Amino acid sequence: GMKKKEVNVICVGLDNSGKTTIINKLKPQNAQQSDIVPTIGFTVEKFASASLSFTVFDMSGQGRYRNLWEHYYKDAQAIIFVIDSSDKLRMVVAKDELEQLLNNQDILSKRIPILFYANKMDMKESLSAVKVSQMMGLEAIKDKPWHICASNAITGEGLPEGVEWVTDQIR
Ligand code: GTP
Ligand code: MG
Repeated sequence: GMKKKEVNVICVGLDNSGKTTIINKLKPQNAQQSDIVPTIGFTVEKFASASLSFTVFDMSGQGRYRNLWEHYYKDAQAIIFVIDSSDKLRMVVAKDELEQLLNNQDILSKRIPILFYANKMDMKESLSAVKVSQMMGLEAIKDKPWHICASNAITGEGLPEGVEWVTDQIR
């Protein structure tokens, strides 16, 4: 059959937001890991959509590793930014990290699509995707396509919608 187009993606967001759980859930069932541990540095993962073959840099969100993110912006064709919708206290920290990302030279210079997952939608205290979008100031992003989906990385709910959006942006 046709060889799928290869796409590099970087997955960022604060520690414990659910990045690794999301990427794991996007892999074929027989390739999924049953126990997810906090990422040290980063890992490189692969998954596919109908038309694309994704190579994902799954970055650690821990403070001490966040300075690694920017080294992988140059080669990225899309960004997945994961937010814990139930972590109201640290949403301002996530917003600050997003602002740093958006002001990076390698990001400023290209019209890269950014997918936001408002993850952990299953938690009782979770904010809606609209509310997360407001708290993160996403309306201010005018020069890049962006999209936000509510997701539950444990069940996979909401994840395909995001991957389809990214796929449409890249084609
Ligand atoms: P770092 O690698 O440290 O940056 O964290 P991470 O963003 O990769 O988070 P990880 O995927 O390790 O998930 C952190 C915790 O949140 C784990 O206990 C997951 O099971 C849990 N988790 C992830 N997604 C969800 C979700 O949608 N709902 C709920 N309830 N828990 C989730
Ligand atoms: Mg991780």
